[in-house]
Amino acid sequence: MNFSKMKSNGEKIAALTAYDATFAGLLANAGVDLILVGNSLGMIVQGRSNTLAVCVADVAYHVRCVAAGAPNAFIIADMPFGSFQESPAQAFANAARMLSAGASMVKLEGGEVMAETVRFLSERGIPVCAHVGLMPQMIKKLGGYKVQGKEEKSAVKVKSDAIALQQAGADIIILELIPATLGKEISADLDIPTIGIGSGANCDGQVLVLHDMLGLTSGKPKRFVRNFMSGSESIACALSAYVSAVKSGQFPATEHNF
Ligand code: KIV
Repeated sequence: MNFSKMKSNGEKIAALTAYDATFAGLLANAGVDLILVGNSLGMIVQGRSNTLAVCVADVAYHVRCVAAGAPNAFIIADMPFGSFQESPAQAFANAARMLSAGASMVKLEGGEVMAETVRFLSERGIPVCAHVGLMPQMIKKLGGYKVQGKEEKSAVKVKSDAIALQQAGADIIILELIPATLGKEISADLDIPTIGIGSGANCDGQVLVLHDMLGLTSGKPKRFVRNFMSGSESIACALSAYVSAVKSGQFPATEHNF
């Protein structure tokens, strides 16, 4: 899948998380461009309250499940908390396990501070998806899942982080929970594709947690999520509706923006 070409052609990238073979097959059949085996599996599969306890073996196991169910899919493996922050060499060893498990790329959270690690991985043959804005692994520091980049200083920081990560060799960047105006600005400034979650319609693609967009997650629905099961006859129809809505720019709508 050539995501850079999709960006330059103005074709939106439709991404979703998955953790098992059955859903991975459904996503592939619906035309989802990339599957993220996210650390959200800590909440969705393991029933925890955050992503922090997920480990490399967990993600590698779910990557193997997803790869078995969707052998031709582009799979991004999320690097768990504590598996890459220590040193570039630690990140390489754990990222290599993800590629062996069947991932096409690894994702790691962190701004400019992770640039050296991104460069180390990229120069040694590991494609990298960076992740800025709200970083769920920083939850203990942030004190909650809050929108980032609302104030000028923090917006400048999110943008300079994204630029530093692109310069270091990141291939894709996830922008999580930032104002739509900032998502638009960063997407226009970067050459690499941006994939937004709660960051407005002008990102180059969109990603959601699968169970959120199928309305399976308990608790108050998140503002940036649409429940694609409502009005759909089946899960397959809901997934196709998501892909069409992302590709046509109908999702996210202004009501999903910050
Ligand atoms: O863990 C995850 O699924 C993610 C997405 C929400 C971007 O990081």
